[in-house]
Amino acid sequence: MGKEKNQLNHLAIIMDGNGRWARKRHKPRVFGHKEGMNNVERITLAADKLGIKVLTLYAFSTENWARPKEEVAYLMNLPVKFFDKFMPTLMKNNVKVNIMGYLDHLPKATYDVVKKAMSETAQNTGLVLNFAFNYGSRKEIVSAAQEISKLVKEGKLEIDQITENTISNHLMTAKFGEYQDPDLLIRTSGEQRISNFLLWQIAYSELAFSEKAWPDFTEDDLNQFVENYQTRNRRFGKVNESDS
Ligand code: FPP
Repeated sequence: MGKEKNQLNHLAIIMDGNGRWARKRHKPRVFGHKEGMNNVERITLAADKLGIKVLTLYAFSTENWARPKEEVAYLMNLPVKFFDKFMPTLMKNNVKVNIMGYLDHLPKATYDVVKKAMSETAQNTGLVLNFAFNYGSRKEIVSAAQEISKLVKEGKLEIDQITENTISNHLMTAKFGEYQDPDLLIRTSGEQRISNFLLWQIAYSELAFSEKAWPDFTEDDLNQFVENYQTRNRRFGKVNESDS
């Protein structure tokens, strides 16, 4: 009997390498971000074709504010450009948009456009396109700890009632229910690190790294990574029956 393929419900991607991609072409770094933005549409549609339920893309970290002012301004404007250009495609494909991060700290125009994208697609029932924007995983865990402590202080929760689920339920991914933890995390551009992304949620995720910069990462590349993932042996800390 053939071994069953792993189901891929939640795919997370660290879209790295835009700046280097542009510099290699003697263009300013933001040119890479623009091409990176166009690739978000292509990969979203490819993920949808694969039947993925949640696609989480790391678009701006809480550490990215330290970049040059002009680059930060460009990145803050990307959601405005993205939804302006691609909203009709997202609607046509029944894609539901979510933006996860510290949204209250975004410039007003960015805040307004991401809120609008979420409300316009709220009734869609297809792929969830989840942008991590002004997101940092340690900060997210600190926020969860604060919320849980508050419940304890108010007498709504006992300390020994705190479980792993309690933590998970106070993270920004909680709303994805059974799909809140990524099955597969891909990072592009040859770097092999996590960069404060979904630290709690990737405890048992499969990791994969592409040498290609994000703007060059194609549907074929994605399909190959997914095929590889489907045949991996996911053990979640247990042993295989055949090895016991
Ligand atoms: C990392 O490459 C990429 C980013 C910090 C930005 C990623 C954003 C996009 C791909 C567009 C997102 C689209 C929307 C709609 C928000 P880098 O600049 O660190 O590249 P480098 O490592 O080569 O310098």
